[in-house]
Amino acid sequence: MKLNNKVAVITGGNSGIGLATAQAFIQEGAKVVIVGRNQRSLDEAVQTLGTDAISLQADVANVTDLERVFATIQEQFDRIDVLFLNAGVAPFAPLEATDEALFDHIINVNVKGVFFAIQKAAPLLNSGASVVINSSVANVAGIANASVYSASKAAVRSLARTLSAELVGRGIRVNTVSPGPIQTPLFGKTGLPQDVAEGLGTALIEMVPMKRLGQPEEIAKVVLFLASDDSSYMLGADLAVDGGQTQL
Ligand SMILES: NC(=O)c1ccc[n+]([C@@H]2O[C@H](COP(=O)([O-])OP(=O)(O)OC[C@H]3O[C@@H](n4cnc5c(N)ncnc54)[C@H](OP(=O)(O)O)[C@@H]3O)[C@@H](O)[C@H]2O)c1
Repeated sequence: MKLNNKVAVITGGNSGIGLATAQAFIQEGAKVVIVGRNQRSLDEAVQTLGTDAISLQADVANVTDLERVFATIQEQFDRIDVLFLNAGVAPFAPLEATDEALFDHIINVNVKGVFFAIQKAAPLLNSGASVVINSSVANVAGIANASVYSASKAAVRSLARTLSAELVGRGIRVNTVSPGPIQTPLFGKTGLPQDVAEGLGTALIEMVPMKRLGQPEEIAKVVLFLASDDSSYMLGADLAVDGGQTQL
């Protein structure tokens, strides 16, 4: 058991990659706290995950919500061993159609939400704790219509380096995982018209040397590696899990 009796917190643990990772962590002995906005899908996820999971409803873009979440975790567990910052949004839009509200939404969830979650969790992180941030291949790729999303993912990749430098003295590691296109509900949330979204899916598969979408479980296995002592000498790194998209 790679995470026996460890306390793991997963933002966006009620869907897609976060839910698959919660399952992988519990199989390895962890107690998991999932955080998300949608109470119904949080409840369904806890039913799926069983008694080793609890849920906390919060908007990660809201710092007051984050303070409440980590205060509750302090009361119930008094420590965090693994923190997976996974909650994210991916509305795609071309340059001319990206207004201030859309820009702020993406940055607030994907960057502000990650930064302040780490800040509010930091007092609870144990020596030996692992923080994993979900970035994306978009952090190094030039994908049309994904400018703000890609910039947000490059920002959190940067946070893994700087916050590792700040936290390494406490024995805390921060790394990122960068998935390629993964089959999750995210594709239905791009905000693009259906035909454009379908075209995007086909184009993304074409960009992947393996010519298929990844599955959430294939990301969860890598997050488990980064979360556990198996990756004990990894610090500030970024692991691409993308069917070769950014590697070949
Ligand atoms: N799927 C891909 O191809 C892909 C590729 C690279 C990177 N990623 C990254 O992987 C992460 C997970 O995405 P996914 O593909 O698993 O999509 P998903 O199934 O749509 O999951 C996104 C999760 O984020 C949560 N979330 C979104 N906004 C939130 C907010 N303001 N506060 C709290 N929770 C929030 C959602 O919970 P609610 O529904 O409750 O809001 C949901 O659980 C994202 O960061 C995404 O950028 C995905």
